Amino acid sequence: MKGVILAGGTGTRLYPLTKMINKHLLPVGRAPMICHGVEKLRNAGIEEIILVISKQSAGLYTELFGGGKEWGVRLTYKIQEEAGGIAQALSLAEPNMKRDEKFVVLLGDNLFEDSLTPYVQSFQNQGQGARVLLKKVHDPKRYGVPILEENKILRIEEKPAEPKSNYCVTGIYMYDTTVFNKIRTIKPSGRGELEITDVNNVYASEGQLAYDILDGWWTDAGTFQSLYQASDWLMK
Ligand code: DAU
Repeated sequence: MKGVILAGGTGTRLYPLTKMINKHLLPVGRAPMICHGVEKLRNAGIEEIILVISKQSAGLYTELFGGGKEWGVRLTYKIQEEAGGIAQALSLAEPNMKRDEKFVVLLGDNLFEDSLTPYVQSFQNQGQGARVLLKKVHDPKRYGVPILEENKILRIEEKPAEPKSNYCVTGIYMYDTTVFNKIRTIKPSGRGELEITDVNNVYASEGQLAYDILDGWWTDAGTFQSLYQASDWLMK
């Protein structure tokens, strides 16, 4: 199985830090943020990774990882020219996938404790469709929020004013290659981006969106508060 890490976007919520360096290279704990996702994938046996980055700091990524040898992975870099959204960034990985391949996608600013191994195994046993990982949070309004029914997700609402559950859809996604056709069917949102939630909702409408719930700590590191929280957890 391959992995994709999405590390494009602008990181405006972390200005002025992200004016001079890409968000995913900021230190979290003892290492640049991006190292976390690479290690999580490698530890789950995923050694072939497509890393989607923006033009900002592109040279620093090659200084850090090169081709990935020292990190025990094989890296392919893709440049997302503009922050067109998470789904647009993901579409850049299409040429690197075989026709019936399944793969794992991580948002580069997501940091978490759990090993990916059991979740990847569940996805491998799942047959077709997609699988997302959820986490119970105290502030669901900031995230994609799932509406759950038994073992399926009925629908996800992106940053709802009145969340219908206390769960957030984390930036850990598993897809089959039908995801690329699904991306082609969606339109940019109000914020002008191709939203991953819209893609996930296509799977949900087909009854093909499964989920697991993370046991350990999880955070994204997109705000100052969550960046420091992530550092604190990783240092411990
Ligand atoms: O962290 C989980 C949340 O991530 C989910 O609950 C939401 O459903 C999902 O939409 C996303 O929400 P955010 O508003 O936090 O996403 P953000 O714009 O901060 O982007 C998160 C990461 O995605 C970022 O670290 C890099 C990648 N990205 C984002 C954009 C907009 C790209 O690679 N390219 C992009 O154009």
